[in-house]
Amino acid sequence: MPELDGKRVFVTGSGAGIGKAIAALCTERGARVVVSDRNAEAAKQTAGEIGAAGVANCDVTDEAQVQSAVARAAELLGGLDVLVNNAGIEVSSPLLQQSTESFDKIFGVNVRGTFVAMKAATPYLMESKGNIVNMSSVAGLGGSPLLGSYCATKAAVVQLTRVAAVEMRAAGIRVNAVCPGFADTAMVERLVPDFEAVTQAPFGDLVAAKQGRLGTPRDIAEVVVFLASDRASWVTGSHYVLDGGLSA
Ligand code: NAI
Repeated sequence: MPELDGKRVFVTGSGAGIGKAIAALCTERGARVVVSDRNAEAAKQTAGEIGAAGVANCDVTDEAQVQSAVARAAELLGGLDVLVNNAGIEVSSPLLQQSTESFDKIFGVNVRGTFVAMKAATPYLMESKGNIVNMSSVAGLGGSPLLGSYCATKAAVVQLTRVAAVEMRAAGIRVNAVCPGFADTAMVERLVPDFEAVTQAPFGDLVAAKQGRLGTPRDIAEVVVFLASDRASWVTGSHYVLDGGLSA
């Protein structure tokens, strides 16, 4: 039987990149998936490509939009077993040169967005005894030049995951996070010029030396699928590092 047979899954930021790969692999492994993104065109295209059960878009910075998208997903799916909080943005800047507005913005998406989606999904997950997978990063476990506020947001995601897992254990809801290293998406493409300017070395060399190769979105999706599945029924409050040894 496929690993996620019959599971009802909602993935934020699944119009592109890692979220898209998660939505696709969940579908391949037997789940019914509702795709969601702030970019409606990308979400529609992903849903068509992967044979999703539907689309329920939201910008995760807008709590009302998140609540209605989660409700719509539960309506389309007849309930909800899994929330994947994947939507996230990067900012490339030395920490103390970053504007306060930009600092608020990244926290608004990566931290507050994760928080409001967890809250919106909880009533449905209580009914299904479902689970949540949050997208952190190895950047949340250590410091990285140019990614100061991003590191702080992803550390916060790990802590939100731990606390929610402990609080919701009695309700039978599991909450885990994944912490990928550099993966092959548009986000990393956007970061390369700034990294190369600081390190004065080709980004490919850094990746080859530190993590062997770029991760693929599917490398990350495989672990998300495991955490979302019943095989991980005793795994909660954890954060899984997937980085080719970058942080080892
Ligand atoms: P990406 O930039 O390639 O794709 C992000 C997707 O999320 C896009 O479809 C975008 O429209 C959507 N999105 C952005 N802001 C949103 C918002 N406010 N509301 C709803 N949707 C929104 O990014 P990528 O690389 O796929 O990253 C996905 C997640 O994985 C992010 O949380 C990122 O921080 C995390 N991550 C990425 C790594 C990488 O190397 N690419 C490494 C570690 C973590």
